[in-house]
Amino acid sequence: MNTTEDLKKLFLLNPDITYLNFGSFGATPTPIFDQYQAYQRALERDPVQFITVATSTLLKKSREALAEFIHCEAEDVVMVINPSYAVNTIAKSLNLQPGDEILTTNLEYGACDRVWDLICEQTGAKYVQQDIALPLTTEEIFIDALFSGVTNRTKLIFLSHITSATALIFPVEKVIKAAKLLGIPIFIDGAHVPGHIPLDIHSLDPDYYTGACHKWMMTPKGSSFMYVKKEHQPKIYPLAVSWGYKAAKPSASTYIDWHEMSGTMDYAARLCIPQALQFRKDYAWDQIAKQCRSLVIKNAPTFEKILGTQLLAPLDERFIGQMISVQIQSQHPELLYHTLVHEHKIEIPIMQHQDAFYMRYSIQGFNDQQDLDKLFEVIEIIKKTGLIMA
Ligand SMILES: Cc1ncc(COP(=O)(O)O)c(C=O)c1O
Repeated sequence: MNTTEDLKKLFLLNPDITYLNFGSFGATPTPIFDQYQAYQRALERDPVQFITVATSTLLKKSREALAEFIHCEAEDVVMVINPSYAVNTIAKSLNLQPGDEILTTNLEYGACDRVWDLICEQTGAKYVQQDIALPLTTEEIFIDALFSGVTNRTKLIFLSHITSATALIFPVEKVIKAAKLLGIPIFIDGAHVPGHIPLDIHSLDPDYYTGACHKWMMTPKGSSFMYVKKEHQPKIYPLAVSWGYKAAKPSASTYIDWHEMSGTMDYAARLCIPQALQFRKDYAWDQIAKQCRSLVIKNAPTFEKILGTQLLAPLDERFIGQMISVQIQSQHPELLYHTLVHEHKIEIPIMQHQDAFYMRYSIQGFNDQQDLDKLFEVIEIIKKTGLIMA
């Protein structure tokens, strides 16, 4: 049985920093990182062969391994650089018309909100952000709040599976079922999902789904996926058109041809899915993740109390995974973050979402109770300076 200390040694993370922000940027364990660099070296050794021959074979292997992990067909999922890329690709392909509506919540990721803002400015469509009352209490209340925004102009529902600043798991399974009954297509932003909570695309059956592999799956940065249901694939155009469009030698899947290769670049991060999945098996990471979730939940009441705030959802694994977030009161959030990182060596995000500020801790296999005890002690010290009001 590996201790958290043993697991910490598998990562390249600076040991002087208490790293509580795996949610923003995952870290890659050395066995996966070594393979990543091996691919980069193989490319430099023989650029032509690696790019023109090996890359497509290795990408296929990665795609197949990923498809098995997230339960979909390998022809329906393509590796992309990040979820932002997938959101841009799909948003730009929807052919929105003036008055069309994209229904979402007020708790989505800011970068994705910006994609929809721009598309709506350009097309005259409307981005409808339903207010979700916090704390979340029941899945039904959430679903009612979201669906009360449906009109006969709703063209798509766009929804996080796990939110960023508020770190909440949304009841996407029930939302997808309800959207289907209304005949509204649905796009799930699962940036935080792969490797964090189980994902079964086949049984969820969304129209579109994107997830990051470079967060909780621990692949190198620049490795994510875009799933599109078969019936929509002919209308989802590549963001960067390259040789795969009107391919000279088409494969069995036009979707893969259009999106898989976007010109000359370093594909190494995307090739590492099989190694990342092997790493999970070798270290029984599902079991480790379970322990992480328990640690998150066990410490949540202290986090809430020490910050004089309120948890954003019931302490239940339907709503909470390996991260938890609470609203904080601070007049100087940037200085607060700076103090946490530079004075106390704790990497933890202070995130603004709309008018509120949130502090979120993420727990990965190398974190332990001592990390959270240190956080709580430091919060007490900082409270005395007035940087946090609690
Ligand atoms: C909910 C959510 N969606 C989308 C993204 C975008 O991910 P990326 O910056 O890798 O494109 C993030 C990033 O943290 C996120 O938290």
